[in-house]
Amino acid sequence: MSLPLRIGALISGTGSNLEAILKACENRRINGKVVFAGSDRPEAKGLERAEKRGIPTFVVDYKNIIRQYRQNPDPARLPADYDSVDIISRQGIFSDTGEPEKTAAYFAARAIAESELIACMNRYPFDLLVLAGFMRNLSPYFIDRVSPDSRNPRIMNIHPAVLPAFPGTDGYGDTFRYGCKIGGCTVHFIDYGEDTGPIIGQRAFAITESDTLESVREKGLSLEWELYPECIRLFSENRLLTVKKTKPGGDGKIRQRTIVKIVESA
Ligand code: GAR
Repeated sequence: MSLPLRIGALISGTGSNLEAILKACENRRINGKVVFAGSDRPEAKGLERAEKRGIPTFVVDYKNIIRQYRQNPDPARLPADYDSVDIISRQGIFSDTGEPEKTAAYFAARAIAESELIACMNRYPFDLLVLAGFMRNLSPYFIDRVSPDSRNPRIMNIHPAVLPAFPGTDGYGDTFRYGCKIGGCTVHFIDYGEDTGPIIGQRAFAITESDTLESVREKGLSLEWELYPECIRLFSENRLLTVKKTKPGGDGKIRQRTIVKIVESA
C-alpha cells in the first residue's frame, strides 16, 4: 500500500468541504491526511474544524495585505523572485484591462500575499493542495511555484456549477437565476484561467419549480461532499492522467486543451 497522501487545504469560509475531506481520511475512504488548513480570512469558520482535530492552521490576511499595498505601493515589499511583466503576460484574463497600472498593482499585491501563503505552506510538506471554498484567484506566481509540472498538476478546486457554465464566485446563484433546470458541481485542476482547468469530476441535480436558491445550494453542497473526496481518492491512487487534445478553432487556429482521463489503478 502506498504512503498516505499529504493534503494541504485552503479555505475562506464555512469549511464544510474540508470537513467532508477530513471525514473521508478518518474513515479511510481516502488513504491520506490533511497536513494543514490555511485561510485568507482570519474569521473563516472552517479553521475551527481543523483546530479541533489538532491540524495546523494559518491565516494570510489578503484584505490587509492588499489594503497596505494600495496605501504604500513600495516595490521593496515584493518577493525577490517576482517578475511583473512575465506574470501579467501569462494570466490572460486580467491582462487586457486597459489600465496597466491597476493591473500591475493587482498582481503585485497578490504576489506579496501568495509568497506569504507559500512560506506558510512550506512548513508542512504536501502532495496535493485542495482549494475548499478558497475565494481568491491564484496568479501564475503561485501556481508555478506550487504546481510547476503542468503534466502532473497538484492543485484542485471545487466549483459550485457544471463548468464551463457559470465560472466565478456565485455558481449556484448564477445557475438558479439563469433558470437552469439542472445544477451541479465540478472538481478540476487549477490552471491560469478562472475555473477553466482540466475537469476531474462532476455531479448534477435537477432544479424543480419548488426549488429556492437556498435549496439549490443545499442540494449542490451535499453532492460536493461526495464528489471532492472521490476525486482526491482517485488522485491518491494515481488514477488521474492528463492528456493534451488539439482541435481546430473556428478561426482556423489549432486550440489545445488538457483533459483528465480516469485510468484503472496501476
Ligand atoms: C462551496 O459551495 C464551493 O463549491 C464554493 O464555495 C463553497 C464553500 O463551502 N467555491 C467556490 O465558489 C470557488 N469559486 P464550504 O466552505 O462550506 O466548503
